[in-house]
Amino acid sequence: MKKHFWKTALLCLGLAACGKEEEFPKPVLVTTPPVSTDGLHAKLPFPFGAAVNVNLIRNNAQYRNLVAKEMNSITAENAMKPAALHPSKDLYVWNDADYLVEFAKQSGKRVHGHTLIWHQSLPAWLENYNGTPAEFEQIFKTHIQTIVSHFKGKVASWDVVNEAFENEGGTLRNSVWRRILGDDYIARAFQYAHEADPAALLFYNDYGHEYGPTKRNAIINLVNSLKARGIPIHGIGMQMHTRYNQSDANLTAAITTAASTGLKVHISELDISMNPEKTQGIMLTPATAQLQATRYKFIVKAYNGIPKEQQFGITTWNVTDGDSWVPGFNGAPDWPLPFDKNYQPKPAYQGIIEGVQ
Ligand code: G3I
Repeated sequence: MKKHFWKTALLCLGLAACGKEEEFPKPVLVTTPPVSTDGLHAKLPFPFGAAVNVNLIRNNAQYRNLVAKEMNSITAENAMKPAALHPSKDLYVWNDADYLVEFAKQSGKRVHGHTLIWHQSLPAWLENYNGTPAEFEQIFKTHIQTIVSHFKGKVASWDVVNEAFENEGGTLRNSVWRRILGDDYIARAFQYAHEADPAALLFYNDYGHEYGPTKRNAIINLVNSLKARGIPIHGIGMQMHTRYNQSDANLTAAITTAASTGLKVHISELDISMNPEKTQGIMLTPATAQLQATRYKFIVKAYNGIPKEQQFGITTWNVTDGDSWVPGFNGAPDWPLPFDKNYQPKPAYQGIIEGVQ
């Protein structure tokens, strides 16, 4: 018992982040980036941000300075997921996420939290949970409320539930949450998050709004029914991991249908694949880069057309082509983001600006 206590205490000290009630020293930033008044965000009438990699913010000055200048909102690409924050039942690890929050504070950025409840990036102890539903409900509530309370007043908004629907279809995914807690885990997640921070804006986030009506309608019906029941949901996140040849009609339908809920709309993970065919050995040419710019412009223009009070903002999923998840995931070259791997703006950058002109 004693041995176990010291082992846990040493682990906690090593991680500098154990237990919800303890206070930890503020992270010390490598440099303090200034609050930027120019950059892309300043040219747009709604917040503009990116998902960021905390290691690059810490260790790569070009990356850090680019984010500091161009964005006024950030999402943690991975640092606020359950596997990162809550690796075992009684252990929460805050260092990386706190570092990002401090970076955002010093450089004047909003922080959007991603994500409290998801079927991926779960620690093994949650994914393989094998106890009673009542015990799991308590774990679920404590997980949500410990994280939301830790960031209360610092994280403006949360993706409370992420990707509850199956890939293409309208059926709920059989995640560990749904299997043990039932379909209404979604509503309760929002209630628990709201109890922990009544000022935080709470989003349901998913992908595939632009695939077609099946998944889109399922998502919109869920969100509308939560709203009708008085569940505290304030926004809808559409990830929009899209491709250069997605149809205008599908992109427009995704944006206008989300807006029809009356909730805030976040394009939360935007990237535009230029090689969805996964062809090996190709390059981005000036012509394809220009084509990508027209797609960014189209999406931004459609988004700019929804009511101002519903425009929560647009977030790209990471910053430069060199940091994107897409080439690794597809196993093929790709260039989905508005900055190239040398931290230079691409034609897509100008396309985004033209989308609001
Ligand atoms: O941190 C470990 C590292 O210690 C280890 O050496 C390395 C070996 O592979 O893995 C690292 O973890 C990886 C992590 O990214 C950080 O790079 C995970 O294996 C990998 O699964 C994880 O992928 C992330 C993925 O979500 C799963 O969480 C991607 O970076 C991230 O872009 C992606 O983001 C998701 C959104 O959260 C939800 N919507 C879709 C989007 C794209 O898949």
